[in-house]
Amino acid sequence: MNKRILIVYYSYTQQTRLLLKRYIDGLEEGGVAVSVERLEPIDPYEIPFRSTFRLLLAMVQTFFRHRDPVQPLADHCFGDWQWVILAGPTWSYQPSGPILALFDSDDRRVFRGQRVQPLISCRSYWRFHSWSLRRLLQGCGAAEVAPPLVFCHPIAEPWRFIGLLLQLRGKMVRREKSWFRRYYPAYGHSRAQLDEAYRHGRALADSLQGTD
Ligand SMILES: Cc1cc2nc3c(=O)[nH]c(=O)nc-3n(C[C@H](O)[C@H](O)[C@H](O)COP(=O)(O)O)c2cc1C
Repeated sequence: MNKRILIVYYSYTQQTRLLLKRYIDGLEEGGVAVSVERLEPIDPYEIPFRSTFRLLLAMVQTFFRHRDPVQPLADHCFGDWQWVILAGPTWSYQPSGPILALFDSDDRRVFRGQRVQPLISCRSYWRFHSWSLRRLLQGCGAAEVAPPLVFCHPIAEPWRFIGLLLQLRGKMVRREKSWFRRYYPAYGHSRAQLDEAYRHGRALADSLQGTD
């Protein structure tokens, strides 16, 4: 395997992580060597939020681009890659706090001269997040920023908004027969989206075959 891809990601409720798992399957089955680096916040948000006030506070803080400082990246991240994948959730229309903190740190040099593919997991609003990431990546010298791979929660509003709030508060309705579950069977991405992530990984791997 001489094709190498680095994935730098943050995931709070594990949706980005689940998408990446299948994306990586696609890459690896296409013959690519994948290195994965998870951003570890030094003082992470609690999960679930202990009160509605604390959840609302987090939403306001993140709207104002609150940073969550992260542990330094491992040394092996600083190399030459065919692509660097930068993956994470949207928080209050913005990139998440740990990703913003990465751009504040010296470790942002991991993107310098690299081709970067953003991957976004969100309930529904990703455009400002994407625009903001592009600017941050260009600002630290990325050679190319690909259009983002975007995965929105597949259920209609208002259920996906209510479902997100219940999930973040640890109050998801568990009874399968409840009327709510008819409209909102589960939090997060669907199996079809995980399969889509796999296909994206495989397509990227295939596109690298025969390149230097
Ligand atoms: C504090 C907070 C704010 C959020 N704000 C938004 C938002 O503005 N737009 C949106 O589409 N999703 C928003 N979400 C939902 C997440 O983007 C979504 O649940 C995503 O799938 C989570 O990915 P993760 O499990 O990898 O963290 C927010 C989630 C949290 C925790």
